[in-house]
Amino acid sequence: MIKIPKRLQSYEVYIPGKPLEEAQRELGVERVTKLASNENPIGTSPLALQAIRKWMDRVRLYPDSGSYYLSQKLSARLGVDAENILVGPGSAVIAKWIARALLEEDDRVITSDKTFLIYKIAVQEIPAELLKVPARDYGYDLEGILSKVDSRTRIIFIANPNNPTGTHIEEGEFRAFMERVPDDVLVVYDEAYREYVESPAHPKGEKLLRDFPNLVVLRTFSKIYGLAGMRVGYALFGQREVKEAVWKVVPPFPVSLLAQKAAEAALDDLEFVKRSHEVNLKGKEYLYRELERLGLRYIPTQANFVFVIPPGDAREVVRGLFQRGIIVRHTRAFDAPEGFRVTVGTEEENKAFVKTLEEVLAH
Ligand SMILES: Cc1ncc(COP(=O)(O)O)c(C=O)c1O
Repeated sequence: MIKIPKRLQSYEVYIPGKPLEEAQRELGVERVTKLASNENPIGTSPLALQAIRKWMDRVRLYPDSGSYYLSQKLSARLGVDAENILVGPGSAVIAKWIARALLEEDDRVITSDKTFLIYKIAVQEIPAELLKVPARDYGYDLEGILSKVDSRTRIIFIANPNNPTGTHIEEGEFRAFMERVPDDVLVVYDEAYREYVESPAHPKGEKLLRDFPNLVVLRTFSKIYGLAGMRVGYALFGQREVKEAVWKVVPPFPVSLLAQKAAEAALDDLEFVKRSHEVNLKGKEYLYRELERLGLRYIPTQANFVFVIPPGDAREVVRGLFQRGIIVRHTRAFDAPEGFRVTVGTEEENKAFVKTLEEVLAH
């Protein structure tokens, strides 16, 4: 019998949904609409797909380990030195690497409750202490977070917009917060949904880096570029030494050649990004209207999903939707058992969701 370390017993694991085809087979429904993982409903950047086809024949070779060309392109685009950029197989993995490299046992990490659960998963490995400050109006309570910073605090994780609630911190508030964070505390600023933000007052990570070297910005190609299945994201580091420290825990060749090439091409696909943004905007306005018509509480969002608080047991509503072929995410694992998160889909998907939700609630 292989001995499994005891510490793993208390580990929380990320539980993704079932494969789509499996859910379809199990339910025996003709069509399954997946609105559970905040993927791009209109597809993938056509330029990225073209690049994948173009580079397919090269996969016998190892990719460049440091994603050289992609880092160069990001550097030119964002005005951040390529040496301060780290590309990885998704930003969630980079969050784990940051924790693995920089934390020691019993260090303190602070975030909010009702936020992205990967932060907890990243920290438990060390194991460091994770302090979750209660959310205020479903968003980050920055004042509350500051009040918990102590000499053991090493990292603060902040998602802006927040997942699963879609709430947003504006630039003035975020800068005021950063001014007060001690400069030996690293703030991991997760902008996975940045491209969906409507607010003109969004604090742009690459600009903040100039003023706050204790910042790391996380971005991803999984959302608006429609490349979740390729696994590619990146981090921008305010301090090169911190990037170099994190690089030490990165396994060799972390990002596949096709992922690198797809991401490079996607960066040029401004038209696809614009279209995706517009579809999302129209979709979320439709969802707001319909949720209001149904008398349901929801949180206005700056991302590509909406957090809904139905009357009664949210898990039952999510189950009812699932049985009728609509998959949304119950947010119990995000400390928000009272609600669920629905990804803004295509017009047709949104309509199917609303129609089915109405049926479930009437049941
Ligand atoms: C806030 C947030 N950060 C990061 C990610 C992870 O994205 P990636 O696919 O780049 O790992 C997600 C994915 O849902 C997210 O919601």
